[in-house]
Amino acid sequence: MIRELWDQHLLPRAIDVILSDKTTGEWREQVCVQASGDVLEVGFGSGTNLSHYPDAVRRVLAVEPADVAWQRASRPISAFGRPVERIGLDGARIDVPDASVDTVVSAYTMCTIPDLDAALVEFSRVLRPGGRLHFLEHSLSPEPAVAAKQRSWQPRWEKVAGGCHLDRDIPELVRGSRSTVSRRSRCPGRPSCGRWAG
Ligand SMILES: C[S@@+](CC[C@H](N)C(=O)[O-])C[C@H]1O[C@@H](n2cnc3c(N)ncnc32)[C@H](O)[C@@H]1O
Repeated sequence: MIRELWDQHLLPRAIDVILSDKTTGEWREQVCVQASGDVLEVGFGSGTNLSHYPDAVRRVLAVEPADVAWQRASRPISAFGRPVERIGLDGARIDVPDASVDTVVSAYTMCTIPDLDAALVEFSRVLRPGGRLHFLEHSLSPEPAVAAKQRSWQPRWEKVAGGCHLDRDIPELVRGSRSTVSRRSRCPGRPSCGRWAG
């Protein structure tokens, strides 16, 4: 009961507040500005990325399991003014045809999808030739001392953070998949949290 209240009602609201700060907005901007055409956004949340998409984005197909987050997206969707459709609940099983989107976007979501390997295969499947995956994720730190802390916090962290993994090396997992990685960069000054653009 308390777990359900936290995971389904309070956590989506807390995520909105925590991930709406100015610095995160600047990182979102850098990643979202690269999107174009038909965009599949996995872990759409409450639509926080919408205001960062350029005019080149024609429509957004949203994958989001949390009903509360989707309900909270209604205002950003109205302001966006282009079609936004919720097409699924799990990034590991995306109900769109092969080679049908130009861009896949993931912000702070690849840490949470339980079967990330399957999701990465899905991203590759749905992207048109020349399409790109752009992502903004925290990741396992390249610094051993920080990585050790991330690993030690993981068992408790995932219980309060909706299944989020501090100990996933997201860029490495993307590189090992069939997704097209075009660029990689890391935000300076935050050893435990990076911005990685693929
Ligand atoms: C930390 S939040 C980030 C939300 C949003 N992308 C943002 O940047 O504000 C992670 C999101 O992933 C969603 N999520 C959890 N499991 C998922 C799955 N299997 N497939 C797709 N999204 C998932 C959660 O409901 C949540 O909205």
